[in-house]
Amino acid sequence: MTLPGARSGVRLAELLATLSLATDLGLGQPMEHMLRQCLIALRLAERLGLSAADRVVVYYASLVAWVGCHVDAYEQAKWFGDDTVLKTDFRHADFATAAAAPLFMMRHLGAGRPAAERARLALTFLGNGRHAAESMLTNHWLAADGLAARLGLGQRVRDCVEQTFERWDGRGAPRGMRGEEILLTSRLVCLADVTEVYHRAAGTAAAVDVARERSGTQFDPAVVDLFAADAAVVLDGLDDGATWQAVIDAEPGAGIRLSEADFDSVLEAIADFTDVKSPYTIGHSRGVADLAGEAAKIAGLDPEAAARLRRAGLVHDLGRLGVPNTIWDKKGTLSHAEAERVRMHPYLTERTLAASPALAPLAAIAVLHHERLDGSGYPRGVAGPALPVAGRLLAAADFYLAKTEPRPHRPATDAAGAAASVRAEVRAGRLDGDAASAVLKAAGHRIARRAARPAGLTSREVEVLRLLAMGLSNREIAGRLVISPKTASHHVEHIYAKTGAANRAMASLFAATHGLIGGLPEAELRRQNRPVPGAEQPHPADPAVRGRVVVGLLLDQVVAVPGAHPQPVGDVPAPGHLAGRERAQLVDPGRGEPAAEDDLRGHLGRRPRQEVLARGERLKVHPVRKHRAQGRRVLGRDRPCERLARGFHCLPPAVSS
Ligand SMILES: [Fe+2]
Ligand SMILES: [Fe+2]
Repeated sequence: MTLPGARSGVRLAELLATLSLATDLGLGQPMEHMLRQCLIALRLAERLGLSAADRVVVYYASLVAWVGCHVDAYEQAKWFGDDTVLKTDFRHADFATAAAAPLFMMRHLGAGRPAAERARLALTFLGNGRHAAESMLTNHWLAADGLAARLGLGQRVRDCVEQTFERWDGRGAPRGMRGEEILLTSRLVCLADVTEVYHRAAGTAAAVDVARERSGTQFDPAVVDLFAADAAVVLDGLDDGATWQAVIDAEPGAGIRLSEADFDSVLEAIADFTDVKSPYTIGHSRGVADLAGEAAKIAGLDPEAAARLRRAGLVHDLGRLGVPNTIWDKKGTLSHAEAERVRMHPYLTERTLAASPALAPLAAIAVLHHERLDGSGYPRGVAGPALPVAGRLLAAADFYLAKTEPRPHRPATDAAGAAASVRAEVRAGRLDGDAASAVLKAAGHRIARRAARPAGLTSREVEVLRLLAMGLSNREIAGRLVISPKTASHHVEHIYAKTGAANRAMASLFAATHGLIGGLPEAELRRQNRPVPGAEQPHPADPAVRGRVVVGLLLDQVVAVPGAHPQPVGDVPAPGHLAGRERAQLVDPGRGEPAAEDDLRGHLGRRPRQEVLARGERLKVHPVRKHRAQGRRVLGRDRPCERLARGFHCLPPAVSS
């Protein structure tokens, strides 16, 4: 058995380099962008004669500088469409004038959406979106700084990371530092970041050109001159295919080697960073890891194999960073192209981890988490005996836990429902029976939620924080908890003050880091028949909530359950207030739920609700005469579905007729 204090032999540089590969995907860059950037910055540091201590700063800062750039991908996608495209274009712009940043934002606002929706979004953005967008760079460095702190990288590295988005001309963030106020180490990392992109795309001359174009605006002119004078040598060999090993070998000093416990801690940090990409998955990787690890012990795996499986669980969804949030957070049916990108994420996990000898054994397990015994899984369709026990356990744990979590297109299922889904998968020959039994047994014997709450949060504030992390507004939180919006706002302010977070993204990261959100604790609550906030108050995007939407006219508007939509337009009578035929019109939230995993929703036989909208079928709305909902008159008549396309789904004709 391996002791926690024992040396794992794993180098911190290996784990950071691995995380940088995943981060590249989220940045819209090919893998190894950050590794190449690290080499460029180190070579410039050598030419400048920087001390060994400074080169250590350049090395680690290069590997973590951009890791926080997906922390608010939910907001990025909400305002700007494909978040990876946004970050790609960010490197092709020099924000050298006061108008540059607003123009950049307006150019990307609502990208990929119809003109009318873009116009509506622009109006909303001018109201409250601009502040969210302006805080993004701050979010990114704060998240990277938080990771650096968790990894014990030292204050000098953290100072360098803080200045990732500062500019020579003082137009950067977060402090608008200028000139030599900015650390030289940070100036090197910034130049290396952009020149790597241009060199890879168009060669050395293009890299020199962009450096000169931004000399005195984004970049330090002296550093630009140094780079331009020796660019061919600085950029030499970056394409020879040995970048990974070159970066590992280039680690200044003796390098940091991790104990077994530290290895786990770093993987947990990576898990938290992965999950925070979407409000629907916060705490997911830790939950899967704990469940799979416990199930492995129940299944009789030896302690080392169980520990390895838990570690694979922590990183199993690392490849999600390579898929934009316009797909992960999409409420409707995925297109074929989108589904294909989803199918790629376990493969991206594997390729990211496989680069490191220490992580390659985890890659071999993690890549299997969506495979199925009958070969219907992905990415490779591995079947039968080719699916090892560890893969079967991880697949069952991932499936079970995902069912207990909300997704954009469905609500969370309670523990009994999740277990029933697992058993159905076993009967269908997709999940292994022994693995499923072990997972279900583990799911019933979990560690209880910690009594102590971090940062002095009250139990109510933890409830609010969970909803905040899921992307709900103060008004929506108030609706869920049956409190006034003002009280909800006070709770949010207290949460920000106590946790040091400035916005939803950072609060989400805090919640993930402190285990406040995750399948295991919630499942434990369910086991004890105690209230589970995520289950009793499903996400506004959930069809279960939408399914409680009673369609009618409220002064020519659709009415909804309070809090059931990000922008509720009215109130709705509770189901209990409706006549029998009216209740019969409510959509059964479980109807049509695919038996198999739902990442590929819409491709597994369920009738996509959006198709109903797209075909413009007329929706039969049963008359609700003179019904009053909080003083408003509800009328009824037949309405075409298009009139209802405000985020509400239509009742299928079979139900509504
Ligand atoms: Fe996955
Ligand atoms: Fe997963």
